Amino acid sequence: MDDSSGTGIGTGTRELSTTSHRSMTIDTCGKEIEALLKTNFHFDTVQLVPFSAGSHWVSMPLKMIGQARGTDHVLLAKVVTDEGVRTHREIVADKNARFTRHAILDLAYDEDDTAYDILRREEDFLEKSREVNIFVPEPRGVYQLNMTAGAVLLMDFVEGVSLHRVNMKESDISKVFAIVRQLRVHRLVHGDIRRDNFLVTPHRDVCLVDHLCLAGAVERAMSYDLMSAICHLSLSVDASVVVNAACTFFSAAELQDALPFLNFITRRLPHQRRGQIFEMISGLE
Ligand SMILES: Nc1ncnc2c1ncn2[C@@H]1O[C@H](COP(=O)(O)OP(=O)(O)O)[C@@H](O)[C@H]1O
Ligand SMILES: [Mg+2]
Repeated sequence: MDDSSGTGIGTGTRELSTTSHRSMTIDTCGKEIEALLKTNFHFDTVQLVPFSAGSHWVSMPLKMIGQARGTDHVLLAKVVTDEGVRTHREIVADKNARFTRHAILDLAYDEDDTAYDILRREEDFLEKSREVNIFVPEPRGVYQLNMTAGAVLLMDFVEGVSLHRVNMKESDISKVFAIVRQLRVHRLVHGDIRRDNFLVTPHRDVCLVDHLCLAGAVERAMSYDLMSAICHLSLSVDASVVVNAACTFFSAAELQDALPFLNFITRRLPHQRRGQIFEMISGLE
């Protein structure tokens, strides 16, 4: 949330304010990625441009513009440091503990991943999603970082605004459920369906980003993704609008199979909206 003032590579240092990344500077990372792009991608010039997005708890997104053989490229470099991995472990351990408390024993997030593993899994998810025409950024490779102690996933930059920042329309909601449907058809699990993991482009297309490795029973994990979409979208718009949109993509049985996750997703959802979702879905025939 704090990289709004931006910096060019090599123009001084600026500490990230988030506790977990306090010791790391954008410039160190930027320089290392610049060298990587020049060596591995034959970039002639690379510029780190101002970009404000992401929570920075686990990863740090950097926007890079470069030229290779006369062509401009705009990339998003998603950096996960060893420090980020420690935060990642805390977050997923907390999620796993909540699964256990709710007697959901067939799902768990991986707590042993390294930065490289986390990003390789995300790259794999992006590749598989693209193969089945789900709109996600095109991945360009995962690389170990030495100076920064971590890894980076390079991908094409998608111009857009996070779904939680736009005035959400019914057509946006339908596009989200169309993506969640496609994931299910191809038995793909995202693991972290939430508003800020969707980008709305200037043409009003909806692009899915990010990934969390949720292992276990695939059917249940897909139901979890579905209920995550319902709950997170209901933070922005009336729950009845969300459930009605979900009904055009999912059967009553599929929606009811996702109900066990209702009390589990996002503490920010008001009790009354959760109740509304329960009433609507359990009443479906
Ligand atoms: N390929 C991309 N193009 C443009 N913006 C992106 C891209 N990937 C991610 N972002 C932005 O960066 C933010 C953080 O990236 P994300 O992969 O969600 O990391 P985190 O795991 O920290 O949530 C996203 O919410 C989105 O706004
Ligand atoms: Mg995210």
